[in-house]
Amino acid sequence: MPIRSFLLTLALGAAAALAAPAVAQQAGGPSLAEITEAWLASPHADRTADAFTHWNDEEDGMVPGRCAVCHTTQGAVDYMAGPMSTPGAIDHPVPIGQNVSCAACHAKGAAELTAVLFPSGVLVDALGTGSEATCAVCHQGRAWGGTVDAAAEGMEADTVTADLSFINVHYTPAAATIMGGTAKGGYEYEGRDYKGTFTHVKDLATCTDCHSPHTLKPVPVAACASCHKEAEEYTDIRTSKVDFDGDGDVTEGIADPIATLHGRLSDAIAAYATEVAGTAIVYGNAYPYFFIDTDADGAAGEGEAIYPNRYQTWTPRLLKAAYNYQFVKKDTGAHAHNPHYALQLLHDSLADLGEAVDVDMAGLTRP
Ligand code: HEC
Ligand code: HEC
Ligand code: HEC
Ligand code: HEC
Ligand code: HEC
Repeated sequence: MPIRSFLLTLALGAAAALAAPAVAQQAGGPSLAEITEAWLASPHADRTADAFTHWNDEEDGMVPGRCAVCHTTQGAVDYMAGPMSTPGAIDHPVPIGQNVSCAACHAKGAAELTAVLFPSGVLVDALGTGSEATCAVCHQGRAWGGTVDAAAEGMEADTVTADLSFINVHYTPAAATIMGGTAKGGYEYEGRDYKGTFTHVKDLATCTDCHSPHTLKPVPVAACASCHKEAEEYTDIRTSKVDFDGDGDVTEGIADPIATLHGRLSDAIAAYATEVAGTAIVYGNAYPYFFIDTDADGAAGEGEAIYPNRYQTWTPRLLKAAYNYQFVKKDTGAHAHNPHYALQLLHDSLADLGEAVDVDMAGLTRP
């Protein structure tokens, strides 16, 4: 069957001027119109999303180079065509009003990309061209354990200092989870070994094996159930035989112990903040995520989850645990991307807080 080559200029809109990527449309595959429609309905095309409008009030009408790589098509194209020497950053701003369009993934640089630099400085190579390398450029987060260590350098573990503030890994760092201890996206405690890349099985290993690159949706769970017979939802999947969370159930989905340990970490963080840092803490779904629990009710109420009330009495130990809490929280697919890496990070954060306050580790097993 002949494979026809299309210039994607028609579908590219504003990005057309940036690059004219040629993609071979597979005979028998989706038509260009179907692909465009799928992309249009996806979050990558959603021009109203905060991820694309966040800079609209900038006076110069530009997205800074340290944000543009992942939040504009032009930034992505320029980054992948360049030396990529600073992870996730280019040396120039680009105009606002863009999204993640065809060229971000189909321009020449992207099509040839096989190695991606992570915030840790680790260059992960031998990635599948066009199938996971491009996704990993943007879904890698913006920090790593070393960011936390650098901030806390020379400080005592349990001493409060005004010099620390929360370090946010950033959002949907799926590639950092998948590449686990290879990319070092989580806060990895000294002396511990961490699970490397989650290789899974041959046909479902890369981002686009599991996710359509255009709708972004994962393959239907029925496709998982051919091997994972128990699965009605992704969160039901489990092959591990070890009782990580000590609840006596090794048939519940692997998402369950992740959620259990995540919940326990929340409690341990709260206990430590009150007892050691001396100020109650609460997590809220707003930047910068950790706030002072002014009424000590354990919930981020109205008026608490606001920037002026951000938590400001960090210790190095608290900062590390909070970093991992957010890392697992912000990869909503961690249970599918690298469940054991997520469990290790949570387990080690609990154990480390347990050096300073009472944390019940009974029954917990580290993967
Ligand atoms: C390495 C890639 C990368 C860089 C660099 C980056 N971001 Fe993001 N950012 C993302 C991704 C991916 C998301 C999408 C999260 C999602 O799936 O909803 C995101 C989401 C956001 C959001 C929306 C948050 C939300 O809760 O939905 C804001 C705001 C944002 N980024 C601001 C910034 C700013 C400001 C900068 C520069 C200082 C920046 N980003 C740099 C990758 C990046
Ligand atoms: C987020 C990255 C991304 C974006 C945005 C994107 N694509 Fe793709 N596209 C891919 C990847 C990756 C493949 C290869 C899929 C594979 O090999 O499984 C692909 C494949 C294709 C193909 C080959 C046929 C097929 O289905 O395999 C065509 C044609 C195509 N894309 C057109 C477009 C058009 C047109 C747009 C914009 C409307 C677009 N793409 C946006 C990543 C992207
Ligand atoms: C140029 C940067 C960039 C590239 C390349 C990229 N993404 Fe994204 N992705 C984003 C941003 C920014 C968002 C948030 C969009 C929004 O909030 O509407 C996002 C959103 C998503 C979402 C939805 C997440 C949610 O919170 O609902 C999925 C899933 C996703 N991307 C998967 C992929 C896959 C798979 C690839 C590779 C084929 C890829 N992305 C390539 C930047 C990128
Ligand atoms: C083994 C299959 C698999 C692989 C490989 C995989 N994902 Fe996922 N991903 C999933 C599943 C399952 C979910 C959870 C979706 C749900 O619950 O609806 C998910 C969730 C996500 C989300 C969050 C979507 C949301 O709605 O919040 C993003 C973003 C994402 N994946 C990106 C990626 C990227 C980028 C890669 C490659 C670095 C990747 N995924 C590799 C299966 C996979
Ligand atoms: C061809 C068979 C096959 C298919 C299809 C398959 N898997 Fe798997 N999966 C496996 C095998 C085998 C393992 C065990 C791998 C190991 O232990 O290294 C596994 C392990 C897992 C694990 C780790 C669970 C644990 O308890 O540690 C997750 C998560 C997972 N698969 C998710 C998925 C998702 C999501 C899909 C569908 C998108 C899927 N799998 C489809 C064969 C498959």
